[in-house]
Amino acid sequence: MNENVAGLTPIHRADLDPAEFIKANMRLQPVPSLPEIRLYTAHPGSGLRRLLEPEDGSHEHAAEPQPPYWAYAWAGGAVLARYVLDRPSTVAGRRVLDLGAGSGLVGAGAREVTAAEIDRNGIVALRLNAEANGVAIIIIGEDISAGPPPSVDVVLAGDVFYGQAVARRIVPFLDRCLAAGIEVLVGDPGRAWLPRRRIRLLGEYQVSDVGGNGGSAPKPSGIFAFLPSEP
Ligand SMILES: C[S@@+](CC[C@H](N)C(=O)[O-])C[C@H]1O[C@@H](n2cnc3c(N)ncnc32)[C@H](O)[C@@H]1O
Repeated sequence: MNENVAGLTPIHRADLDPAEFIKANMRLQPVPSLPEIRLYTAHPGSGLRRLLEPEDGSHEHAAEPQPPYWAYAWAGGAVLARYVLDRPSTVAGRRVLDLGAGSGLVGAGAREVTAAEIDRNGIVALRLNAEANGVAIIIIGEDISAGPPPSVDVVLAGDVFYGQAVARRIVPFLDRCLAAGIEVLVGDPGRAWLPRRRIRLLGEYQVSDVGGNGGSAPKPSGIFAFLPSEP
């Protein structure tokens, strides 16, 4: 039997409907720095472990389950959503991709969006959150980072530099987006894998990050333009 980090066995419950689970066990509540946006949010009694599944999607070889990133508003996404809400012209009349959408809070700020997310439960949460916020959403539930740039005008990447492996995939994808003339905006609180030489600060807000019940104390997080690499 495999055990997850908390010492409990991650069980994939084929009989568990993620949408019903989310509605029954998470709270639809405003994001602290974004009172305009409500998200199904985890709380200590949510028991999200019941929904977790291993990274490789196999259910027999349960290794580390993929953490439920979609169950929280991350600082990078929160600050990017705040930026877009405060400057609607960033997205107005433009085709928008929310890359690594998680809960979908960045897309909720944009109101009309294509969201890319690879976590199966996250995709369900995205749809529920979009419905709750009256957002028109198209969901791409597969990894597009190895492919060609999408047919959009702007990519919003909220908190996608949380790990080395994901950063290594995303940076070349964002490069292809830039080469195709797509504007790329990044929201990030200064994570370890943020490509600091490739960004220009556009703005900053104090927002809560994941952690604790209702998030951590607000701290500065940035909105950045992602820049072409120097020749
Ligand atoms: C740290 S969370 C941020 C979620 C949201 N943008 C926010 O700020 O709250 C990053 C998300 O990116 C997703 N992700 C990672 N690699 C991805 C990829 N190649 N394509 C789409 N989503 C990806 C993860 O599943 C996770 O939900």
